[in-house]
Amino acid sequence: MDRRPFALNLPSLSLSLRVLFTGFLVVMGVGLIMSGVQIFLTHGMADGKLGVSKEDIVYSYYGDRSDSRLAAKLAGTMKDKANTADKAAIIRWVEEGSPQPEWGSSVQAVFAKNCVKCHGTIPGLADFRTYEGVTAFTEVDEGASVTALARVSHIHLFGIAFISFFLCGIFSLSVGLPTWLKAAAIGAPFVFQLMDITSWWLTKWYPDFAYMTMLGGFTYNASIGFMILTSLYQMWVMPWRGHTSMENTWTRLPPVNR
Ligand code: HEC
Repeated sequence: MDRRPFALNLPSLSLSLRVLFTGFLVVMGVGLIMSGVQIFLTHGMADGKLGVSKEDIVYSYYGDRSDSRLAAKLAGTMKDKANTADKAAIIRWVEEGSPQPEWGSSVQAVFAKNCVKCHGTIPGLADFRTYEGVTAFTEVDEGASVTALARVSHIHLFGIAFISFFLCGIFSLSVGLPTWLKAAAIGAPFVFQLMDITSWWLTKWYPDFAYMTMLGGFTYNASIGFMILTSLYQMWVMPWRGHTSMENTWTRLPPVNR
């Protein structure tokens, strides 16, 4: 009978299993960096300034409720398309809740005079010949819709849970860490992922929860980064330095010499 001791842990794995795990960890690590870049460029620019801030998250989920898109454009790229009096007339009407009777009596004429030569003739541009065409832009920006949030949430929940499961599964074979630290690191991505997604929904109604989004996202990445680096170190640097371990990581029983 084979009496050699048996230990299941990262430094003891066969070459093929280490290559398999390493491939997964490296590609996931690159994926994390890419998602960081993407968040930086989309949400990060939401307030027009580079870098992810609380305002970016608030803009993305809660929206910019101080302004309709029409008013924002009239103060922005459409600034020179009407004189001050006409712009003021449009904005006053929007602030009153864009009432339909005033549209017919006066506001339609303002749009016809200043805007319709482009908005109504150039395909692809918003059409301002009709009341409906204009009111599509008079509502305040309420950020992400519930439909969009539900879609993104469920994709994230399923996808990220899979990734976390495999990453944490590999890390569960690591040695030399206090039991509590290892268990906490393995639980962390799941807790922080739920926290991140919960915070999107809360931010949609209460902008201050944007801090929770930042905390959830940061701690998720920190815990994953810690596990990837620890696992790579134990699979390659430890055996290379001749370090071995008799820890059986997947059982609570002490190592035995059969
Ligand atoms: C000379 C042509 C022209 C005129 C006149 C013009 N616009 Fe525009 N408008 C554009 C173009 C081009 C865009 C798309 C580029 C951009 O958003 O700046 C645009 C975009 C917009 C948008 C954003 C629509 C969207 O789909 O996001 C709004 C709102 C808007 N214009 C309002 C107005 C109003 C109000 C007036 C009249 C006071 C006006 N525009 C007059 C050319 C024009």
